[in-house]
Amino acid sequence: MDDFNPPTRLLMGAGPSNIHPRVANAMTAPLLGHLDPDFLGVMDDVREMLREVFQTKNAATLPVSGTGTAGMEAALVNVLEPGDTFVIGTNGYFGERLAEIGRRCGAEVVTVEHPMGSPVDPDAVKARVASLKRVKAVAVVHAETSTGVLTPLEPLAAIAHEAGALLVVDAVTSLAGVEFRADAWGVDVCYSGTQKCIGAPPGLSPITLSERAIEVMRARKTKVQSFYLDLTMLQDYWAQRVYHHTAPVSMIYALREALRLVLEEGLEARWARHAHSAAALYAGLGAMGLAIVAPEGHRVPSLTAVRSPDGVPEADVRKYLFAHHGIEISGGLSELAGKVWRVGLMGHNSTVSNVLTFLSGLENALAGQGFEVAAGAGVAAAQRSVRADLA
Ligand SMILES: Cc1ncc(COP(=O)(O)O)c(C=O)c1O
Repeated sequence: MDDFNPPTRLLMGAGPSNIHPRVANAMTAPLLGHLDPDFLGVMDDVREMLREVFQTKNAATLPVSGTGTAGMEAALVNVLEPGDTFVIGTNGYFGERLAEIGRRCGAEVVTVEHPMGSPVDPDAVKARVASLKRVKAVAVVHAETSTGVLTPLEPLAAIAHEAGALLVVDAVTSLAGVEFRADAWGVDVCYSGTQKCIGAPPGLSPITLSERAIEVMRARKTKVQSFYLDLTMLQDYWAQRVYHHTAPVSMIYALREALRLVLEEGLEARWARHAHSAAALYAGLGAMGLAIVAPEGHRVPSLTAVRSPDGVPEADVRKYLFAHHGIEISGGLSELAGKVWRVGLMGHNSTVSNVLTFLSGLENALAGQGFEVAAGAGVAAAQRSVRADLA
C-alpha cells in the first residue's frame, strides 16, 4: 500500500470545511490516557469554552463523541419516551431527519411542514401545538443546511414553554458562524457539529442542556434506549470522570484549539466576518444572474443554496470546479437534488478571498456549459460589496 498524501482542496461545500493549521497541529500532540490528569484539564477547558460559544451557563454542556447526527440522536433519545408527542417544524432535509429519529424513539411525531426555502412559521407551529393535548418537545433546525434558511428561535421557545414543552434546536450549521444565544433565547437542548463554523474536523457533536431539560430527563419512566448516547452518563463522565467510553483524545485536542481560535477572534467579530463574506457572495451571485434559495432576511451566512440555471447540468459545474479549481461545493438534497449548489463559507474558510476564488471558478465552469456571464461580473460585484461593507 502506498503513502496517502491527500491533495489540498478548498472545501466550500456543506462541510467539512478547511481547518486552521493550529487545529491540525493540535491533533498531532502526544496522546494521553483519557483519564490522565492533564487530559482531564483539557476536557474542562473544552466545556468552559463550549459554554461561551453556546452563550449558556448550562452545567450540562459537553461534546458527544460522534458527528452531528449523534447530537441529533442524543438530543431526542434522552428527551423522548415512547408515546410522547413531539412537534417539529420542518423546512428541509435535516428537519425530516429529526422527525425520523423522533419516530424511531417511539414518539408521536407531528410535523408542521413548510416548503423547502421557507423559514419555519411560528404561528403555524403555535396553532399545531395548541391543538395537541400534551407536547413533550418542539424542535427546529436553526440553519437548514439543505436550503440555507435561518429560522428565528425566540418565538418558538415562547411557544414551547407556554405549552410546557422543551425547545430542541439543531445548530449544526449555525453555531460559531451566526448569532446564537442559548440562554437568552430560551433554548433547552441544542447540539452542533465540529466540522462547520467551529472549525475542527468532523467527529464531535457539542451539546448543551438547560435545567428544564435535565428535569425532564430525571423524570423519565423508561431508561434511555441508547447506552452510548445517554446524556446523564455522559455528563457523569465529563463532570465526575465516571468511566463511560474512551473519549477520542486527539479530536478533543482539535476541538480545544478550534474553540480557542473562536474565542480569540470573539463571537461577535466571527459572526460579523461570516456576514461580511456572505454579503460578497450574494452580490457576486446576483450579478451573475443566479438566484439564492433563501429569502433575504432569512439567509444563513455560512451556507448558501443557489439555483443552477435552466439547461445547466448542476453536477457538471461541480465536477468542473473540483477538477480545474480544486474547489468542492455540494449538490442539493431531497427535492432540491439536481437543482441547486450549496456553497459553504464556514469558520476558517469564511473569507472574502475564498468568495472571489469561488466566483471566478464558477464563472469559468458556467462558461464551459454555455451559460455566459459578463467576464468578471460576479467578482467585481463581490469586490464592490466588500468595499461598501468596509466603508
Ligand atoms: C443541520 C444539520 N443537522 C445535522 C447534520 C448531521 O451532521 P453529520 O453529518 O455531522 O452527522 C448536518 C450535516 O450536514 C446538518 O447540516
